[in-house]
Amino acid sequence: MDGALIELDGVEKVFDVRRRTGFLRRERRRVRAVDGISFTVARGEMVGYIGPNGAGKSTTIKMLTGILTPSGGRLRVAGIDPSRDRIRLAHRIGVVFGQRTTLWWDLPLIDSYRLAHRMYRIPDARYRENLDRCVELLELGALLDVPVRQLSLGQRMRGDIAAALLHDPEVLYLDEPTIGLDVVSRTRVRGFLRELNAERGTTVLLTTHDLQDIEQLCSRVMVIDHGRLMYDGPPAGLHEAGESERVLVVDLEREFPPVEVAAPARVVRVAGPRQWLAFPASQSAAPLVARIAAAYPLVDLSVREPDIEAVIARMYAGQSPGGAGVVPGARGSQAAVGE
Ligand SMILES: Nc1ncnc2c1ncn2[C@@H]1O[C@H](COP(=O)(O)OP(=O)(O)OP(=O)(O)O)[C@@H](O)[C@H]1O
Ligand SMILES: [Mg+2]
Repeated sequence: MDGALIELDGVEKVFDVRRRTGFLRRERRRVRAVDGISFTVARGEMVGYIGPNGAGKSTTIKMLTGILTPSGGRLRVAGIDPSRDRIRLAHRIGVVFGQRTTLWWDLPLIDSYRLAHRMYRIPDARYRENLDRCVELLELGALLDVPVRQLSLGQRMRGDIAAALLHDPEVLYLDEPTIGLDVVSRTRVRGFLRELNAERGTTVLLTTHDLQDIEQLCSRVMVIDHGRLMYDGPPAGLHEAGESERVLVVDLEREFPPVEVAAPARVVRVAGPRQWLAFPASQSAAPLVARIAAAYPLVDLSVREPDIEAVIARMYAGQSPGGAGVVPGARGSQAAVGE
């Protein structure tokens, strides 16, 4: 590891928003989208960057690419000031915005790649090699000649990820790369990212609303809300900080009164033969399942993961000052996070 690849020191972004409030009346409002964020990411790290809607995640990523200029603070990516040297930086980073494509809408997928080949002046052999690898691992073979606008969301997303990687970026920013993907595509994309990180040492900053993306890919996660860093640590610690719960759904052979289990697990809902049990997310479901299976005629079961918003909401609710991993100075319970 050779030091920090991404460095933020007290970074701020304030938007001036003008709003019509009535006939000939306008109101000026300042939105502090990013409100003094500091962190570093080392080369080769794969870090989750999560938080509720409007928290400031995309704004941070846009500043890291140079699309937006910070209103304050200091920011460096690979030693480069992104907003000053955006073009130079572009050769060293890759970006995927799940909500928006960087591909040429009316052209076959392969044409976007050919353009990238020339734009980034990728050596021919390298281009071929990277393209072949992406086509194989992201299963793009049958899609290369299809106009982008005809691709499904999941196909397009895979196409976008490949486009972001053809020039061998050291850093990859992914802003909701699994949004709208089905389970199979999600798994495929995750596998691809894991391999990219392990084999090429690509540094990855990942924004997502899917907690499983984080748990399966990242050893470190940062939580941002109202433009501030609320947590920086391992994903498991997030559950502790948020005391979040998973839910075990069991189908019994017939209707029963609430099943008897040891605390802290407890039945939270019963509907006919189906029962819902909440238990701490940091614990395995196995003992609970074993206990129920031993005492009741268990037909089927599933486990539901908590979503990020719920975890964060609980984090505020149960926040103990100086709790593990909670960023010092992080704000208390004023969050208006809806579940
Ligand atoms: N160009 C802009 N002009 C004015 N306000 C903006 C602009 N971009 C973002 N904002 C505001 O900044 C705040 C942070 O937005 P941002 O897009 O960074 O959130 P986010 O964390 O990515 O949310 P989401 O999970 O919904 O994608 C929001 O209040 C948003 O309305
Ligand atoms: Mg966003």
